[in-house]
Amino acid sequence: MTMTETAQATIERRATHRTVLMCEPSHFTVSYRINPWMHPENPTDTGNAVEQWRTLYELYLELGFDVHLIDPVEGLPDMVYAANGGFVLDGIAYGARFQFPERGPEGPAYMDWFGAHGFEVREPVSTNEGEGDFLLVGDTIYAGTGFRSDAASHDELRRIYQREVVTLTLVDPSFYHLDTAFAVLDSAGGPASVAYLPKAFDDASRAILEERFPEAIHVTDEDAAVLGLNSFSDGRNVVIASRATDFERQLRERGYVPHGVDLSELLLGGGGVKCCTLELRR
Ligand code: ARG
Repeated sequence: MTMTETAQATIERRATHRTVLMCEPSHFTVSYRINPWMHPENPTDTGNAVEQWRTLYELYLELGFDVHLIDPVEGLPDMVYAANGGFVLDGIAYGARFQFPERGPEGPAYMDWFGAHGFEVREPVSTNEGEGDFLLVGDTIYAGTGFRSDAASHDELRRIYQREVVTLTLVDPSFYHLDTAFAVLDSAGGPASVAYLPKAFDDASRAILEERFPEAIHVTDEDAAVLGLNSFSDGRNVVIASRATDFERQLRERGYVPHGVDLSELLLGGGGVKCCTLELRR
């Protein structure tokens, strides 16, 4: 460890209680291709997907999270990726409007759930894929575009939440949602509060990230390739892909407590830990 790393490791990271929404992958399969990870010609194992997903679900319970479940819908195999179901902040749920028709019906299904569980639902006008592309750090919403969510949805976010929204443009088709290339480790925004994959962003966005997060973790291509960044943190415990071993080391050096899970079956659909997790903020 270098001197700064040693100093950071002594940071006592504090967990804040999380409330999340998940969807069991009872109907998971890969029957269409809307991202480069998906190969409908190859077999998938729904039972394995459910088993792996359960380890994530149980880990969240062990970490003391409140975990809500939405009923999976037959014919919507990607519904397990709950992060795309919307963006929820201040008790207001901004609904998703999916780019691909295959996922279209997920938008209303999630909005129905939000409405039935006491959230104020805002119907989306622009294409957006929820927390897959919108991540909160401090009081700022970092919003991805380039593949899925329209930049116009970033204006909707500004109007609804009255917060600063920073647009980040993604350029690598393998990292098509912001949460595949950018991880929030400390949502309060302290030192080393985020991690990202620099090559997934255009030059302007990379400059913004460097300026705002000089101490960010940069992950290796190997870790990015197992969707290591697609992780979920409570500020102390960071749940990551177990195969992202260098990311795991970097997290420890900065005082975080990494927990590896194997979601290899869900990776066949192009998603990981974070994709399966939608944070609910009242
Ligand atoms: N098959 C899904 C899609 O391409 C995967 C979504 C992953 N979700 C995420 N938040 N990155 O839409």
